Amino acid sequence: MWGGLCVIFPLLFVSVDCLPLDKPAGDVNIRNGGIAANIASVDTNYKGSWELFAPDAGVSGMHLILLPTTNKALMFDSTVWKVSKLKLPKPPCRKVEDTPNEEDCFAHSILMDYENSRLKPLRLNYDTWCSSGALDINGRLVSTGGYNNGSDTVRVLDICQDCVWQEYPGSLANGRWYATQVTLGDGRFMVFGGRGFPTYEFVPPEGQRNAKNQAIDFKFLVETHDPVENNLYPFIYLNTDGTLFVFANNRSILLDTNTNMIVHEFPVLPGGSRNYPASGCSCMLPITLQPDEKRAVIPTEVMICGGAAHEAFTLADLTRPKVFLPASKDCGRIDISKRNKANWKIQTMPTPRILGDALVLPTGDVLFINGAKSGSAGWDDARDPNMVPVLYRVVTGPGHTSKFVELAPTTIPRMYHSTSAVLPDGKILVAGSNTNPGYIYDALFPTETRVEKLSPHYLDPALDPLRTEILFDKSANWLLYGQRFEVQVRGGDPILDMQKLQVNIYYPPFTTHGISMNQRMLRIGVYGVRKDVAEPDVNIIAFQAPPNGNIAPPGFYMMFVVYNGVPCRRAIWVHIKA
Ligand SMILES: *[C@@H]1O[C@H](CO)[C@@H](O)[C@H](O)[C@H]1NC(C)=O
Ligand SMILES: *[C@@H]1O[C@H](CO)[C@@H](O)[C@H](O)[C@H]1NC(C)=O
Repeated sequence: MWGGLCVIFPLLFVSVDCLPLDKPAGDVNIRNGGIAANIASVDTNYKGSWELFAPDAGVSGMHLILLPTTNKALMFDSTVWKVSKLKLPKPPCRKVEDTPNEEDCFAHSILMDYENSRLKPLRLNYDTWCSSGALDINGRLVSTGGYNNGSDTVRVLDICQDCVWQEYPGSLANGRWYATQVTLGDGRFMVFGGRGFPTYEFVPPEGQRNAKNQAIDFKFLVETHDPVENNLYPFIYLNTDGTLFVFANNRSILLDTNTNMIVHEFPVLPGGSRNYPASGCSCMLPITLQPDEKRAVIPTEVMICGGAAHEAFTLADLTRPKVFLPASKDCGRIDISKRNKANWKIQTMPTPRILGDALVLPTGDVLFINGAKSGSAGWDDARDPNMVPVLYRVVTGPGHTSKFVELAPTTIPRMYHSTSAVLPDGKILVAGSNTNPGYIYDALFPTETRVEKLSPHYLDPALDPLRTEILFDKSANWLLYGQRFEVQVRGGDPILDMQKLQVNIYYPPFTTHGISMNQRMLRIGVYGVRKDVAEPDVNIIAFQAPPNGNIAPPGFYMMFVVYNGVPCRRAIWVHIKA
């Protein structure tokens, strides 16, 4: 449909938008993945700023995920303590396990509108304590496991206005307490590990039950089990070749889920233990795609940071007086698409960190936030809150060194059971922190229900004129694998410079206990940019949707246009359809 315009105004077109859809466009493009990964960005020394967003969320946000298209953040903790600061608005209350006639009328899960902080309590029957979750193809949260009755429960929360939890106890073959749920390339889920169960299983379709023999033994979780575990909530990522990267304790492998075979083991990451209760954090770095993507192997890097010595939990939790060992300061970074050629590159963070999150920012940089500098996960087992978020500016390619930059500190400790999430406007929602069995306020670290927002460096007010705005109505809001789509933006420059432009899509993670399950960012291959002749300050960006589900599982993503290293005012939700 652009052919005619192209002939009339050839000079307005950069790159290849005049080509018909069926012609490959990549060869004539001015951009390649290497360049796109390290774009020019404007400098800012802004360290960010904090605001108290909600003085009392009623429920301490132990688990946190954004629900697509709704402006809602879902937060929940556990039912086991039968208490929160918020009552359910109407009956019925929850029947308490094993105690006939006892009722619990407190809310344990809330939807928070992240624009205006309005709360909606949601009833939950089966315990979600230390559970797992992910968004499905249709943007619904599917949550697995938890404690007690919750441990073999699958629960679903849809994104409609009046939706409530649907709970299916007895769905899983094994109990999944501190397990990791991972999304596969076809949109199915698997759930790995959990206390006492070194196995994995596929999450059954809604309302169905797995037979006991549908749990598959996973020796890797037996082998990586320290006397105090240190391998719960394993870090798991879908590799671009469809295998799963599984990191537990200090070891990592690639698992072929079709054959249940371990197809590669990476070198051990030295420096202590990284998983619960040593609780480091981890993320997959942005996957950079090219327009007309044809590479057989798409490079994919993973970072594992912080954590603690193998004996940190023993000394903090099982020893009197408690001893709080310093947390790890080191980060390992590895290209998991390289197999035999891959090895850890070690870098050092400015400060040690356990119990924190590694969030991938709209720019593709990484933010380390929340947590502590000594001790371990567990009740009252950590000290020295790490109040200073750290920005990791990701640079790729030979000879490049990524840098850590400390941002402005918060004033609220976010210890065990704290969470965070990237919002569509680029701010960071920060919630939770409860190192106590129950809602306890006179502790060294009281149960925390305040919710904050951090505005990171790129929200420097001085950069405001550079911010682009995505024209929602004129942009694709659903995508098909490998096909060409367009997003329109206002602002930036009269003609956007491809060397300064990124289109990044982000699959929102389920965050709990320092793990951000399924967090994934893709730098989309951009074919080119052209002007909207009717609207002089509007540019039309043509891009290729990710080639397949192993690169980007189907479902909802936030799309950020980043120009000059500055994210657009607000991401839009795009739906990759299977
Ligand atoms: C939870 O499990 C107990 C047995 O452990 C059972 O008696 C109780 O009814 C269950 N609660 C619910 C809500 O199903
Ligand atoms: C890896 O962890 C195990 C304990 O699970 C430990 O015995 C071993 O020494 C660690 N390896 C390295 C290189 O740190």
